[in-house]
Amino acid sequence: MPAELSPIDKAKYVAARRAIEYVEDGMRVGLGTGSTAAWMVKCLGEVVREEGLMVTTVATSVRTAELARKVGLPVATLDEVRWLDLTIDGADEFDPGLNLIKGGGGALLHEKIVATASDQMVVIADRTKQVDRLGAFPLPVEIIPFGWQTTKALVEEILANVEVLGRSVAIRMNGSEPFRSDEGNLILDLHLRRISNPAQLSLVLNQIPGVVENGLFLDICDVAIVGNADGTVELHDIHRGTVEQERVDIVDGDNLFVDIVD
Ligand code: 5RP
Repeated sequence: MPAELSPIDKAKYVAARRAIEYVEDGMRVGLGTGSTAAWMVKCLGEVVREEGLMVTTVATSVRTAELARKVGLPVATLDEVRWLDLTIDGADEFDPGLNLIKGGGGALLHEKIVATASDQMVVIADRTKQVDRLGAFPLPVEIIPFGWQTTKALVEEILANVEVLGRSVAIRMNGSEPFRSDEGNLILDLHLRRISNPAQLSLVLNQIPGVVENGLFLDICDVAIVGNADGTVELHDIHRGTVEQERVDIVDGDNLFVDIVD
């Protein structure tokens, strides 16, 4: 275990290490976005370099693609690959049914397309992402720039009729400018505090014309791996209905990844 890492980074690191065990020779693998996914990209790069594992990857963001190439992973487009065996990604929240909120890093659209195009989605996270009910993390909604104030008003209008605890909507900023996704779109963050019916909310949000996609990932994730700072992981498998504890074997003095910043 790299001694220099903070407890939260150790937790992300062990989750990422365990997730790599799902990757088999010849697989087409979707690479998520965010600080936890960045650990996974580095770990996968190491396995490819040192063990000769053959994979083709599809990145969910420009920054993940850059990191993947840097660590020696072959990166293809989704159009070249069409379908993936596995996607490994982080999440902002996951509930007991492995429904997710994603998009804290602004990559939700590509992440949802890639995860949906995958036979299996494995989420990697630290314990802070595990919730009983979704909604404490603001729900990201990607919208097109044209008429965005109108789209925001329509989103606020539909929130009046769904069961949530908070209803404030904010345009995501990047300094003094609105944040732009890799597609050049804008993100609204919906401060809902508690979402009673995620399926209904997802449906009504996506019916608004200016909305491209929302950050609710429902019935997409198959396995969630929760990392702990002590080197243990908890594997939640939605199909087997199991939660298993394991310890991740980490070579002593392994500090290959301390330079990761996402
Ligand atoms: C990016 C995402 C990320 O997976 C999510 O924000 C979690 O990121 P991190 O691992 O840095 O906490 O959805 O759009």
